[in-house]
Amino acid sequence: MVQVAIMGYGTIGSGVAEILAQNAEQITNGCGQDVALKYVLDLRDFPGSPVEDKIVHDFSVIEKDPEVSVVVETMGGLNPAYPFVKASLLAGKHVVTYNKALVAAYGTELLAIAKEKNVNFFFEASVGGGIPIIRPLYRCLKGEKILEITGILNGTTNFILTKMDKEGASFEAVLKEAQDLGYAERNPEADVEGYDTCRKIAILTAMATGKEVNYEDISTEGITKITDVDFKYADKLGTSVKLFGTSRMDGAEVHAWVAPVMIGKDHPLYAVNDVFNGILVKGNMLGTSMFYGSGAGKLPTASAVIADIMEAVENADHNVPLGWTSERLTIADQKTSVH
Ligand code: HSE
Repeated sequence: MVQVAIMGYGTIGSGVAEILAQNAEQITNGCGQDVALKYVLDLRDFPGSPVEDKIVHDFSVIEKDPEVSVVVETMGGLNPAYPFVKASLLAGKHVVTYNKALVAAYGTELLAIAKEKNVNFFFEASVGGGIPIIRPLYRCLKGEKILEITGILNGTTNFILTKMDKEGASFEAVLKEAQDLGYAERNPEADVEGYDTCRKIAILTAMATGKEVNYEDISTEGITKITDVDFKYADKLGTSVKLFGTSRMDGAEVHAWVAPVMIGKDHPLYAVNDVFNGILVKGNMLGTSMFYGSGAGKLPTASAVIADIMEAVENADHNVPLGWTSERLTIADQKTSVH
């Protein structure tokens, strides 16, 4: 029996608890052991909820309990997620997170600690919501030289652009809908200004090159300047407006950027609408593969977290080599962007 603690019982954390209960049989069969939820760390109490008796308010309860071998971080943000994740790894526990801000800012250090402690730091849900993309990069495509990654990596902005384009909806109204549906970040500026996409393309670029990427080196423009006029032009040209995150490994140079683009009907990402994400990965032998699915939302994102918990259970006795080293990648054409 494996004991798990969830830190943060918000949209994604409650989704993880729900799947642990609902798909218990599949999870046990898949990783060969029962996976039980022991604690849920949150500032709030949740009387009447299924986790009522598991709530703790003090992180040290989890840190000091030798029975807890996997810690799930679904708090978001950097504080206290960073110190809690770091302390969990130092205490010899595997950590699974969905938190791209944490991975983009502290991934190098946390991966190094996990390696040193012979545990695992997994973050499949940090990019693409429920779409498997991190694991394909470090498992299936590890013999490839990755030449380019281009994607629609933010569900909220894709949802907004789709509704504005197809239904003539207002930016504010659709953003509110995305927030109500649990797609948007706590501070939706991260979505609409492109910062969330920037962190995700930084993580994918680091995975693809094996080097640390400073996400602030990536030129980033969001969708806040897109107006009706842009959609009218796009329509006239037979194109669609999408927010892209792109990274191109061009010889020794790596070009990376985040910006809205107009793409034609023949582009593979043209039909990626609503909350869906689509990611094109080009390898030197593979050619181009496309990864497509729900890019945000409670259960799809929690599903990726569950897969990582199972990966941690299956690889409990060793560190899975994934990620990147502390060697810093130089991004060509970088513009200073603060976010
Ligand atoms: N706010 C993010 C999005 C959540 O809309 O894509 C998933 O990372």
